Amino acid sequence: MEQLLALDMVRVTEIAAIASARFMGRGDRMAADQAATEAMRKIMDEIDMAGTIVIGEGERDEAPMLYIGEQVGTRAPGVPAIDIAVDPLEGTNLVAFGQAGAITVLAASEKGGLLHAPDTYLDKLCVGPVVAGKVDITRTPTENVHRIAEALGRKPQDITIVILERARHEGLINEVRAAGARIKLITDGDLSAAISCAVSGTGVHAVMGTGGAPEGVITAAALRCLGGEIQARFRFRNPEERARAIKMGNDDDESRVYRTEELASGENLVFAATGVTKGDLLDGVRFFGGGARTHSLVMSYQSKQVRFVDTVQMFDLSKPPTVRL
Ligand code: FBP
Repeated sequence: MEQLLALDMVRVTEIAAIASARFMGRGDRMAADQAATEAMRKIMDEIDMAGTIVIGEGERDEAPMLYIGEQVGTRAPGVPAIDIAVDPLEGTNLVAFGQAGAITVLAASEKGGLLHAPDTYLDKLCVGPVVAGKVDITRTPTENVHRIAEALGRKPQDITIVILERARHEGLINEVRAAGARIKLITDGDLSAAISCAVSGTGVHAVMGTGGAPEGVITAAALRCLGGEIQARFRFRNPEERARAIKMGNDDDESRVYRTEELASGENLVFAATGVTKGDLLDGVRFFGGGARTHSLVMSYQSKQVRFVDTVQMFDLSKPPTVRL
């Protein structure tokens, strides 16, 4: 199931990436997001599955499609039941302003394999496979910087921590600087940053700080496939978010640490992402007369496979483009 699903799912993120990339630099983040969402929704219905959106664009009353609980797929008799977490466009502003690192992304699992996280924040600590098991989010950032450096056999000044550039992170940034590590501040996209930490050669070693909870669950699916780790704690912005978390079956104790296997517990996990704008890990969508080229990452947990997929999508076969290496 996983293998076929992986190829289907990467088709979903590819088509969504092409749709949203049309809006690159046009200053309209909502339009870029809507294009990705609509494209994702359409392709999902062609897949032989009984899919349920468990993390999506919001609650049914606030999102026209890919809302939490929405049923997708052909739903033909005998098709597998799948839970799906989507972030149709991670980095809406990045696309709107033509900046690096936007992706279309989703994770899928057998039923019950992805935490039903509400649209709130998580305090996150994400690391790659070499550092997995050696950090502890309940310890200070200083201690974790030292643990990460030690695990990698480096000095703190030779590691790079990714942090979202937000006012709420002022204290964290100061502490990480004082601990001696380098910092890569990003304006958006802590999900793709977390994946980069688990891929050697990207030059980043951990993500720290508070970001979206939905993104945290999808990050967990990716890091399980890569042998990395995320530790996370809920950070509610208001009582409504806390109430929603409880309603969705979560523990609202902000001191509780959720681990990778709790956020994405599935045994048949699939993760797919396609670059919309060029980033550390993936190329962006490149258009040419008659088609577009996309670059994706697709992984499945059971089969322990990580694939980088380079696809040429032809729009019009009567005028086929020249496919280049
Ligand atoms: P978009 O929803 O605009 O794509 O932004 C994504 C993101 O930057 C995530 O990567 C991150 O987890 C979250 O937003 C941070 O939220 P906030 O912008 O509220 O700090």
